[in-house]
Amino acid sequence: MRVVAKWLGAAACLAMLGSGSAVARDWSVIKDSGTIIAATEGAFYPFNYFEGPKLTGFEVEVAEAVAKKLGLKLEWRVVSFDAQLASIRQDRFDFAIASHGYTPERAKSVDFANPHYCTGGQIAAHKDGPLTVAALTGKTVGVQLATSYSDNAKKIPGIGEIKTYKADPEVFSALKAKKIDAWISDKWVIKGTLDKNPDAGIVAGEQVFIERVSMILRKNNKELMDQLNHGLAEVMKDGTYATLSQKYFKTDASCR
Ligand code: ARG
Repeated sequence: MRVVAKWLGAAACLAMLGSGSAVARDWSVIKDSGTIIAATEGAFYPFNYFEGPKLTGFEVEVAEAVAKKLGLKLEWRVVSFDAQLASIRQDRFDFAIASHGYTPERAKSVDFANPHYCTGGQIAAHKDGPLTVAALTGKTVGVQLATSYSDNAKKIPGIGEIKTYKADPEVFSALKAKKIDAWISDKWVIKGTLDKNPDAGIVAGEQVFIERVSMILRKNNKELMDQLNHGLAEVMKDGTYATLSQKYFKTDASCR
């Protein structure tokens, strides 16, 4: 079901890309239209994922709360993670919320809002597998394409091979099938995945790096940036953020 929904989403997205409709707009245009258009991936549990046909997750709910604060309806576009930066530059939607960690490289092509959570990249492996950075020497590591996990894996001295996959569920499957020795991903994604798969014999290991995660938008769209930051601040102030953070992580995920 989840897979079907994802592919339907991808098909809808391709149809949209094919139509050539450019929609990243100035704040005044968004406000007048009454609807803001956001992109996410839908395969990064518990941040953005499908529950049956329904897109949900911490980031989906945070974005919906932000839109509500701004008096707007939110319309979702499901876009594969590796296509999101390019799609923003092509004005395919107003912003993306899909766990983008700040990097100077990405900041050359998109702007980052204030962070909506802070987190870390972590190793996961079979119980007897490589669970520390040092143990990754000569090992094959799986990561999602175009992520900070991929960037950071490349920096690990002595690492064997890095295999990239389109989305994290595929990396997890590869690890289960022992096609790779370890997986590097978000610590909450690993926790969420392992909690759902307690019999896989896979455990979380060392944390590799930390990052600040933000919504991203077209460069120099200052008014929209101010509005998104304002909406996020309101959601943080009125307790909505705390409630969502407890719901998904049982702790405060904000960057304190
Ligand atoms: N936090 C990582 C990064 O900044 C991965 C984000 C992946 N997001 C997703 N929706 N799959 O690259």
